[in-house]
Amino acid sequence: MHEVIILAAGEGKRMNSSRPKVLQPVGGRPMLRHLVETVAAFEPKGIHVVVGFGAGQVEAALAGSGCRFVEQAERLGTGHAAAQALPAISPDARVLILPGDMPLIRAETLQALLQSPADLVVLSFIAGDPTGYGRILRDEQGQVYAIREHRDATEAERAVREVNSGVMCARAGDFAAWLDRVGADNAQGEYYLTDCIALAVADGRSVAAVKALQPDELLGANDRSQLAALETVYQVRARQALFAQGVTLLDPATVQVRALVQAGRDVIIDAGVVLEGDVKLGDDVRLGVGAVLRDCDLAAGTEVKPYSVLEGVRTTGACQLGPFARLRPGTVLAAGVKIGNFVETKNAHFDRGAKASHLSYIGDAEVGSQANIGAGTITCNYDGVNKHRTVIGPEAFIGSNTALVAPVTVGEGGTIGAGSVISQDAPAGQLTVSRARQRSIAGWKRPTRQEK
Ligand code: UD1
Ligand code: MG
Repeated sequence: MHEVIILAAGEGKRMNSSRPKVLQPVGGRPMLRHLVETVAAFEPKGIHVVVGFGAGQVEAALAGSGCRFVEQAERLGTGHAAAQALPAISPDARVLILPGDMPLIRAETLQALLQSPADLVVLSFIAGDPTGYGRILRDEQGQVYAIREHRDATEAERAVREVNSGVMCARAGDFAAWLDRVGADNAQGEYYLTDCIALAVADGRSVAAVKALQPDELLGANDRSQLAALETVYQVRARQALFAQGVTLLDPATVQVRALVQAGRDVIIDAGVVLEGDVKLGDDVRLGVGAVLRDCDLAAGTEVKPYSVLEGVRTTGACQLGPFARLRPGTVLAAGVKIGNFVETKNAHFDRGAKASHLSYIGDAEVGSQANIGAGTITCNYDGVNKHRTVIGPEAFIGSNTALVAPVTVGEGGTIGAGSVISQDAPAGQLTVSRARQRSIAGWKRPTRQEK
């Protein structure tokens, strides 16, 4: 049985932000969410999140996650923060304590820590530049005897490159007893969680530092530049996950994954594509240069041509979309649908083989199979107060530059003459035209310039 405490009460001043540091996004989602999802995967009895700065925002960001929130009213240090969560935890439970800004840590690494037989385990790593980190101090036998914070360390101690990741594990009852004895006599006047190490050693308990093999996963972010470094590592991982699913990235470094992506085989993604939210791509889907997809579900064989922006779109068969298409939420497209350049759709269903190839707005509409919508067609769906639906029957043909004033229906196989304003239902199978008849005036002369 084990429990998790996440320390997330700090402000993160160096981010220069109005939101708490742990809510800065990595891969499009708050850092803290990544961490909570990772620890939830090995089913702890409870996840206790210590909140303080921006507590309301942090709680809202974790709504529905099942975490318990504990308020740390004053930021008196990591030891003080952890102590706030302990009273609710059974003394016999093993507790994993984590800083909230460590989004890349892997479940395997935490598992290794939980399995260590030592009474107190700390996850360490070898830092290229250890500045700012707590140093792991070992005696001649290699036994860990203390962690010294950078600001409290001597020159000799600062030369140590093995540092504390901030992750620790011990029995809840032990943590509580040690933290009771931790003082604040140090450079920052704070109660340090790291002081538990020296106390455990003094009590004759076993202490171990487990070295992480992939230090990248322990990266935290104190400022925007470190946040950008985290993002880079995250993106490399996210692209690896796409490769593993059978996706080809034509220019991997330019593709941004800010989504949970489920992809079929032989998907091809070109340069500069951005994926957000929840994205499902069927086999052989192709995404052209610069496509942006948010919350989309594209059926096998769908092709999105360059510079198209899709949000809340579902295709139920292979479709051709773009280039330069803007497809908005509620767009559902059946097999063989073609949406061309400068076409905007919203809340629109296109049945099999329907086409809108150029320059149209199709909103709140039902488009029947094989219907053809000419260039410049607009569904006038909004009367300034309410939205109304347009129904276009199967095999209808809408001439160019038609305004369909909703609510309105064009019957099956109906044809609308170009330039019409259709404000009443147009019958099936007939030609409906509503434009002034063309006439030519014989003998008409252009005006001539008047002499003054
Ligand atoms: C801490 C460790 C240091 C380690 C480093 C790794 C201590 C004393 N030092 O230092 O050994 O190398 O992390 O990044 O533990 N927090 C609270 N309440 C507080 C203070 C902090 O919730 O009163 C939270 C912060 O929001 C943050 C985490 O604890 O998520 C770590 O605090 P931070 O101030 O970043 O500690 P460091 O100085 O980085
Ligand atoms: Mg820190």
